[in-house]
Amino acid sequence: MKIAIMGAMPEEIEPIISKLDNLNVVEYAANKYYEGAYHGKEVVVAYSKIGKVFATLTATILIEKFDCNTLLFSGVAGAISNDLKVGDLIIADSLCQHDLDITAFGHPYGYVPEGEVCVASDEKLRDLAKQVAEAKGLPLKEGIIATGDQFVADAERKEWIGKTFNADALEMEGAAVAVVCSALNVPFFILRAISDAADMDAGFDFDKFLESSAKISADFILSMVDGM
Ligand code: ADE
Repeated sequence: MKIAIMGAMPEEIEPIISKLDNLNVVEYAANKYYEGAYHGKEVVVAYSKIGKVFATLTATILIEKFDCNTLLFSGVAGAISNDLKVGDLIIADSLCQHDLDITAFGHPYGYVPEGEVCVASDEKLRDLAKQVAEAKGLPLKEGIIATGDQFVADAERKEWIGKTFNADALEMEGAAVAVVCSALNVPFFILRAISDAADMDAGFDFDKFLESSAKISADFILSMVDGM
């Protein structure tokens, strides 16, 4: 087993890279890929940069060039559900693209022909996450995560995304990773810790809580690697 661990920003993968043994950095396609081992398990870690296009590129490279056969994503998200507060963890049971819109042709939001509105993540990895959460005594929410190329800092937009997709949290990469992994038959898992509430304070909160929430997510991901 070779495990890909992906984030979008340096802050999201730094707490993971700092714990790897036998680190080897490979520069490829204008990015850095960190090969190494965590407690004897082979991993390749990278941050994609923000957004769906960069996330698609990095997930594809982790699978096609580095031969990873499982992908775990770690990072932060904006909360939609009122249950979720800064630092809380959510796992995606499925992911959708909130900014994908060909409704002019009678299709639902988030849908393109031969695609699906929501792409489901791997059930076994979700089960493992629930076991890890229980062992750590941490609450873990499971729900739909909505992805789009937009930092949402607007209560109306957030509510629209929540209602339209029944989503509990939003971010900017997860659904792109889901589409890649599903097309290539690679089991994947998306974990996010809340950094903000996607409202008018989101920019300020994101800057304030990015590092601490990213670390909460990264620590959880490493515990999952231990259980794999
Ligand atoms: N990731 C974390 N917070 C976010 C927000 N408010 N919008 C989009 N992506 C995010």
